Amino acid sequence: MNLILLGAPGSGKGTQAFKLSEKYKIPHISTGDIFREAIKKEDALSLRVKGIVEGGGLVPDEIVLEIVLRELRQESNVAGFVLDGFPRTLPQAESLDKNYREPLKVLYIKLEEKEVVRRLSGRRICKQCGKGYHLLFNPSREERVCDSCGGELYQRKDDEEATIKNRLLVYEKHIGQVLSFYEKKENLSIIEGNKAIEEIFFRLCKVIDE
Ligand code: AP5
Ligand code: MG
Repeated sequence: MNLILLGAPGSGKGTQAFKLSEKYKIPHISTGDIFREAIKKEDALSLRVKGIVEGGGLVPDEIVLEIVLRELRQESNVAGFVLDGFPRTLPQAESLDKNYREPLKVLYIKLEEKEVVRRLSGRRICKQCGKGYHLLFNPSREERVCDSCGGELYQRKDDEEATIKNRLLVYEKHIGQVLSFYEKKENLSIIEGNKAIEEIFFRLCKVIDE
């Protein structure tokens, strides 16, 4: 089961990927999480991507591709995966296609910009396990504490208003080409993102189980 989740910043890719990974017992591969982890550890990758990620730009394709293609070759990922945040550009989609020919289901969560901004500005994330929450739409039971692991919740640096705007501009620039690429391959499904988390999850599972 090889899944790709596409969608704007804040459309719910991470939220749904977390649930899909639990339900189908497949690893969740988030390029954004990989970069944030590198930044936290201040490792060699961090030097190359920190400024870009925190400013809401795109990490160069060659860096992203090297990481993702290496991940997909890992033993733990050969039986299936859910990719979140990749591919984001046409060259990324083309390269994945060339290097990885197993059937993929591409699920695009469609959400309007106004809602994206509301979602991102209230988002909180667990420092320990990465689970996402929202102050209004999906709050943790105890303030600033993760329901799943008890970790501390924090706000992402790129969720500040000016950076959100830049992320949206970058997203708009590339998404059309990526969607056209998968439309032509006839493996694209569009899921309405302006629904409750459980409703979207139900619809995604329906498409996956078809
Ligand atoms: P990445 O981490 O992928 O960020 P993003 O695409 O901007 O997406 P987000 O993680 O912000 O949103 P999401 O769709 O996961 O939403 P979430 O589920 O959290 O990438 C970060 C950066 O890394 C990029 O800007 C770039 O610099 C770099 N990068 C990563 N991949 C790259 C690539 N392939 N190429 C180049 N650069 C790359 O939900 C948001 C909020 O809404 C949460 O609070 C959640 O609780 C809430 N929520 C979710 N669903 C619902 C719902 N249905 N109703 C109400 N609230 C909801
Ligand atoms: Mg995410």
